This record gives sequence, C-alpha cells and structure tokens, in this order.
Amino acid sequence: MSGIRKVGILGSGIMGSGLAEVAARAGFDVVVRSRSKAAAEAMVATIDKGFAKAIERGKATEDERAAVLGRIQATDHLGTLADCDLVIESVLEDLAVKKALFAELEQIVKPEGILATNTSTLPVVEMAMVTERPDKVVGIHFFNPAPMMKLVEVVRPITASDETVDAALQFATACGKDAVEVKDRAGFIVNALLFPYLNNAVRMWEVGTASMESIDTAMKGGCNFPMGPFALLDLVGLDTSLAILDALHAEFGDPNYLAVPTLRRMVAAGRLGRKTKRGFYSY
Ligand SMILES: NC(=O)c1ccc[n+]([C@@H]2O[C@H](COP(=O)([O-])OP(=O)(O)OC[C@H]3O[C@@H](n4cnc5c(N)ncnc54)[C@H](O)[C@@H]3O)[C@@H](O)[C@H]2O)c1
Repeated sequence: MSGIRKVGILGSGIMGSGLAEVAARAGFDVVVRSRSKAAAEAMVATIDKGFAKAIERGKATEDERAAVLGRIQATDHLGTLADCDLVIESVLEDLAVKKALFAELEQIVKPEGILATNTSTLPVVEMAMVTERPDKVVGIHFFNPAPMMKLVEVVRPITASDETVDAALQFATACGKDAVEVKDRAGFIVNALLFPYLNNAVRMWEVGTASMESIDTAMKGGCNFPMGPFALLDLVGLDTSLAILDALHAEFGDPNYLAVPTLRRMVAAGRLGRKTKRGFYSY
C-alpha cells in the first residue's frame, strides 16, 4: 500500500474544489489551502451546497455529507500541509507560479511526502527539479468536473521513482478513477489530442463556416459528444485553454496548436467562460 492518508490540495479554483471533494469522498483526510482563508472556506461551502442538492435528489445522505465535510480542513497557511502524505497543487496554469510553489512546498512538506501537480500540459520535470526530492514528484491530472470524470492521467517525469508513480496510481484508483500512466510530454494523452480539435472549432467559426451553436450541435449529434467544442472551452476556462495551447505549441511547433487570435483576445477581455459568467456563451 502507498501509505497515503492525508492529502493537501492547493488552489481553490474549479479543479481544487473538485479534487478536495473526490479525495474526501474516498476517505482521505484533506487540507485545502488557498491564498485567502475566505476562498478556502468558500470552496468547502461549494462542496456543501453540492451535497445539499444531492440529498434533495436522494443521491446522498446527511451522514455522508457530515462525514465528507468532516474530513476537509480549510486553511490559508501553507504550514498546515507539513504532515501531508501527498500534496496536489492545482493553481493557475503558469510554470513560474508552479515552480515557486514547489520550491516552497519543498521547505514545508515532510521529506517522505509526495508532491504532485494537476497541470494540464506543463513539464512536470521542471517542477521536480526545483525540489530536493525529484524522485517524489509526479503529475496527477484529474479532469473537469473531477467528481464526475472517470479518468486520471498519472504523469511520469524522467526523475520519478517507480514507488512514487505506483503510489499515484493507487491513489487515483482509491479515488474511484480509471488511472492511465503517461510520459511527461505537453498535453499528455487527452489534451494533446483534444486541443487541436477545440482550436480548429474556433478557427472554423472565425472564418464563418457556421455559427458556434451549429458547430456545437453538429459535434454533439454527429459524434455523440456530450457537449460541443464551445461549451467545452467555456467549461475548461478560456485562460486555461490558452495556456494549454501555448504549452503544446511551444513543445511541438504544430500549427494546429497555434491558438487562434479570437481565443487570445477573449482572454485579454476577461471573458474566461463559465467562471466569469461570460465566454463564448453567457451564463
Ligand atoms: N479547468 C479545467 O478543465 C482543468 C482540468 C484539469 C486540470 N486543470 C489544471 O488545474 C489547475 C487549476 O485550474 P482551474 O481550472 O482550477 O483554474 P481556476 O482559474 O479555476 O483556479 C486557479 C486557482 O489558482 C489560484 N492562483 C492564481 N494565481 C495564483 C498564484 N500566483 N499563486 C497561487 N495560486 C494562484 C487562484 O486563486 C485559484 O484558486 C491548472 O494547472 C489547470 O491546468 C484544469
């Protein structure tokens, strides 16, 4: 067994909150850390609200709600993560921000603790190399929304030990997910294949081939996808999507990864999708 019992989650955005819920539901003790206590507490309140709705629909019980929320501690203090067996960061998709965070975690988290990133595309090895335990750094990439999506990509940088990768695979499985192992290459499996499609959908709309509603309807009805590309971009977040495309393009130079101008302009305008209530669609 991997010996993981206590899990730290960093970042209180879309993914941080989903990760906290998944880990607490799986029975792990969870510490969620955000830069502000209010944001960390808001995240726990969001999970609580989700439970209230699930209870109304008969999909959860009050006992489950109490047990899961009882396992989650909210904090704004990094030091609270010291005795975590596993810490997963899920902050902004920006390599400089993530590297600075890993350097801080190195000082705080007990030496045998595993440090993981939920990055969608960035090189895990670069985060590993700012620590003194590169063998204990791994990618654990959940999908959005984390409580619903079955897949986790476990990303193996060339520095990781087999024990660390095995522990990450066991953790993902214990969370009820289907875990796949993948090398540390931009976009891993899913985003490397998905993002040329999303980018080309925006390009198709830019040149006026069809409306975004028509493209979404076409891809749902024609390919049996649960949502069309514009709805999916809004769900992922346009800033995160742009960061993913930029990282893919920097690594592979493939023109399909070159973000279309509209996407960049929308991010500049703060239209980031569902999280800002306006992206390709309004919410
Ligand atoms: N959105 C998705 O569909 C998705 C899916 C899988 C993985 N991810 C990855 O998860 C991570 C978080 O994405 P998200 O969608 O939750 O983003 P988000 O925008 O919802 O949240 C980002 C979080 O980072 C924090 N943050 C911003 N700047 C920071 C800084 N300088 N230092 C520390 N924290 C900072 C914010 O306060 C917020 O809590 C990213 O690495 C992203 O690639 C996202």
